[in-house]
Amino acid sequence: MQMNEYRYGNGMNSYRAAGELTGITNLVDAFYSNMDDFPEASVIRNMHPEDLTESRKKLTFFLCGLLGGPRLYIEHYGGVNLPDFHRQFPIGNDERDAWMLCMQRAISVQPYEASFKEYLLARLWIPAERIRLFNSTDI
Ligand code: HEM
Repeated sequence: MQMNEYRYGNGMNSYRAAGELTGITNLVDAFYSNMDDFPEASVIRNMHPEDLTESRKKLTFFLCGLLGGPRLYIEHYGGVNLPDFHRQFPIGNDERDAWMLCMQRAISVQPYEASFKEYLLARLWIPAERIRLFNSTDI
């Protein structure tokens, strides 16, 4: 790993690399449009409301904060514990993989630096896996 890849964890660097609110809005639009289109994702698309307007806004706001930008989700909706919140949905390996597939393909078409694409995918795997684990009855 090159030294500059460590920088994404610092301050607002990730938020800037993602193109700030506009860039993250584009990412989330691509993510949810993949969820609509990919047959592998129908299992998770069905968990969502038909109208994705609010889902898009919530994920966009959440990712802004996660990437070190303004904490728009907390400002608008208050705090959330993601694993707890997602317990209401049945999320196992297939569902986690479907979510990550939509996200990976959404990231791949953004005008981000290659090193940031790699970082972002790895960064989002962490909560995705935590959500799956929390859902599991094996723990
Ligand atoms: C592991 C696979 C995942 C599945 C199957 C999944 C599924 C869902 C579903 C069905 C909703 C409800 C949508 C709605 O009511 O609008 C939701 C909401 C949400 N998800 Fe996920 N999700 C996953 C992973 C993630 C990850 C990794 C993140 C963050 C990086 C995330 C962030 C959110 C947020 C912020 C909300 C909105 C919560 C709210 O209603 O306030 N999800 N997710």
